[in-house]
Amino acid sequence: MKKNLVIAIDGYSSCGKSTLAKALAKKLGFIYIDSGAMYRAVTLFFIRNHVDMSSDAAVEDALQHIELNFHSRDYESHITLNGEEVSDEIRLMPVSENVSEISANKLVRHEMVKQQQRMGKSKNIVMDGRDIGTTVYPHAPVKFFMTADPKIRAERRFKELESKGNNTTTLEEVFENLAHRDYADTTRKESPLVRAEDAIILDNTDLTQAEQLDFALEHVKPFLPHP
Ligand code: DC
Repeated sequence: MKKNLVIAIDGYSSCGKSTLAKALAKKLGFIYIDSGAMYRAVTLFFIRNHVDMSSDAAVEDALQHIELNFHSRDYESHITLNGEEVSDEIRLMPVSENVSEISANKLVRHEMVKQQQRMGKSKNIVMDGRDIGTTVYPHAPVKFFMTADPKIRAERRFKELESKGNNTTTLEEVFENLAHRDYADTTRKESPLVRAEDAIILDNTDLTQAEQLDFALEHVKPFLPHP
């Protein structure tokens, strides 16, 4: 059997990682895995159950009561938390405001990384996140590191929230939240967001989605099995 291919996409919050990852997965017939959705779903569980983050025992116990599953419909990834569809709820501000703290916890990261590594063991996948090319799949043959102007990123996320019916969060709040998460993601002790040395930088401030896909495909092509 041919070895499966893992494409790793890391980068800052809201800079189009999932849009590119989905487009690539669709084009190549790969499975798309949104690792951020996993941290968000864990955060939702922790908020709902008032898990005491200062207690390792409480965190470990909570992790044992969480089952996450992805259901892919038309390359939109849907995630369930213990059987409940939570794809929309995990994008709302209560989760966005707490996900940095919870995703910085080493027990949480350890469990998520283990599950993410299992998902790509024998399948062709595109996985996006913060530590995919550095920690989860350090040997992935193709890695992208995405970035974009922070103002553009805030506007994109704001529009996404609006399109989902949210009209309580302002653009300024979204901008502040992104700045806070960038800071937390890049300065945390456990696998901070850094560019893997062999990751290709993709700044999409001025690129259309089609241009980004073309750029990525050019880099992926050499690793695809020849028909
Ligand atoms: O990609 P996103 O914005 O939905 O991710 C939500 C949060 O999860 C983000 O602020 C940092 C964290 N995260 C992480 O620490 N490691 C990953 N591989 C993916 C996300």
